[in-house]
Amino acid sequence: MKVDVILGLQWGDEGKGKIVDLLSNKYDVIARFQGGPNAGHTIIVKGQKFVLHQIPSGITREGVYNVIGNAVILDPVILLSEIKKLEAANISVRDRLMISKKANLILPTHKLLDAWQEKSKGKVGTTLKGIGPTYQDKTGRFGVRIGDIFQADFDTKYQQAKMKHLSILRAMGCEDAIDDTAFLTALEEVKTLHLADAEYYLNDQLTSGKKILAEGAQGSLLDIDFGTYPFVTSSNTVAAAACTGLGISPKKLGKIFGIFKAYCTRVGDGPFPTELLDEVGENLRQKGNEFGSTTGRPRRTGWLDIKALNYACMLSGVDELFMMKMDVMNDLPEVKICTDYHDNQTDESVSFSELTFNSDIKQAYMSMPGWSEEISSIKNYDQLPTSSKNYIEMIENLTATPISLVSVGPERDETIFRS
Ligand code: IMP
Repeated sequence: MKVDVILGLQWGDEGKGKIVDLLSNKYDVIARFQGGPNAGHTIIVKGQKFVLHQIPSGITREGVYNVIGNAVILDPVILLSEIKKLEAANISVRDRLMISKKANLILPTHKLLDAWQEKSKGKVGTTLKGIGPTYQDKTGRFGVRIGDIFQADFDTKYQQAKMKHLSILRAMGCEDAIDDTAFLTALEEVKTLHLADAEYYLNDQLTSGKKILAEGAQGSLLDIDFGTYPFVTSSNTVAAAACTGLGISPKKLGKIFGIFKAYCTRVGDGPFPTELLDEVGENLRQKGNEFGSTTGRPRRTGWLDIKALNYACMLSGVDELFMMKMDVMNDLPEVKICTDYHDNQTDESVSFSELTFNSDIKQAYMSMPGWSEEISSIKNYDQLPTSSKNYIEMIENLTATPISLVSVGPERDETIFRS
């Protein structure tokens, strides 16, 4: 058996929650492989909305097992509050959730460091969940892992990390008091959850013929290496990260599914070549409810960027594309696709990678007629308005990748399968 991977191809918020929930009835296990509570995967089942920050999006499907992998970072307070919300909605969690003992903990001081780094070091526009500082400690070999909570020296390790952080914070001018009561209380309850060396479990599942879907968070353009550095998150978000984030051999990767929105959005600062600062952009924001599910911040909106999409497809070897929020594009007289960027001075084509160094660019767009029909209730591809089908097929041509699923609304059944 192979592990299929699902990942975002833009700057996050593509709709991974809905699709993982939707596809999870075809899998035995859903495993999150990177990121932390900076993610906000939204699932709507029969009108009930769940926003998952830590728990994999297979949890809303009865019978599906869920794994939080080693490269995910964990805020125990958020994790437990999420478990309790799901349980209040009669969804069983504790018997269907395994957490890798190797997952690093987000400490209360990591969150303060995130806030102070944002204030003092040039803004990235982070989610303020402590993501950067926690991954910094992980790679600096100073991290505290969730499996450490069972060790006799846990308290010493935690106090050492806290002291180190406090001295950095003081040097930054932060005199904020640290209240870690909620954190320490949550950790006691985390001890009752299923913590294990998840890589053994996942490989055993594959051997016994079980199907696994690896769930990515954020998006490819926020990848720590390939994204618009330094305006990126602190983990690898491309398909290869599923291997190191779960302990699975690259030989065991199966299909790679890439999710993108019919337009683009981005939260936080950084390059965004197709950004729309006009009424069209505002319309997409309002109609698409483009406000962060983790932070509530308004998302920047813009036209679809094929150059960026092709870059993301190349990095992960995407086999199939899933196109989200097609319904949000209704009622536009024309829709545009950015096909290239050029240097304003030399007119030479600029690659996506070069955007970090060269912001003096002009975009080349192709324009297509829009569609005005309401499409959310359409179940069959052939019934879509011709101009919307032309838009979809143009993207397939430009990416040389099939679009096998088109989402036309937030509910599970507002989805058109093409294969
Ligand atoms: P961090 O991951 O909180 O450190 O934030 C770094 C950058 O990634 C910021 O621009 C965030 O807005 C962005 N970001 C992080 N997680 C997500 C996500 O799940 N969706 C969209 N943007 C995200």
